[in-house]
Amino acid sequence: MQRIAVVPGSFDPVTLGHLDVIARAAGLFDELHVLVVHNPSKVALLPIAERVSLLEESIRDANIDGKIVVASWSVGLLVDYATDVGATALVKGIRSQVDVAYETPMAIVNRHLAGVETVFMLPDPAHAHVSSSLVRQVSSLGGDVTPYVPSAVARFLQRS
Ligand code: PNS
Repeated sequence: MQRIAVVPGSFDPVTLGHLDVIARAAGLFDELHVLVVHNPSKVALLPIAERVSLLEESIRDANIDGKIVVASWSVGLLVDYATDVGATALVKGIRSQVDVAYETPMAIVNRHLAGVETVFMLPDPAHAHVSSSLVRQVSSLGGDVTPYVPSAVARFLQRS
């Protein structure tokens, strides 16, 4: 039986912390869908298509693209996508207790809705302080984000 999982998120933009979790999850599952989901509670920096293309480039550059599909989802429940592709798990990176508090209700609701489990993974502590919102802020104020993002993202933000 194929073990398929979805790694959902805004990825606005993908960070080294995200990439670390994606690489670790790719070691646990036969197929991994990295899914860019529109989060209406956040003010977006990048269009969805740009986030997908930066994820694809970053995953390729990290040589972890073997069993990873990058897609986007903007209509309906996240678990509908998971069920459509045969995924039995969602993977979320957990940096702190704040993330646990944010993710726990969603994990329980997603299990109630569709029987989809959520797997919490710990990124390398080197990335524990890194978030897309921090990257957006530093970048918009002209700061250097190269320590926090894959090189494809750093190049893109420098051009923008
Ligand atoms: O990177 P983010 O912004 O923290 O990701 C949050 C995201 C997009 C994964 C979350 O908002 C989500 O799961 N959205 C899907 C909408 C959904 O299915 N909601 C009902 C169950 S929680």
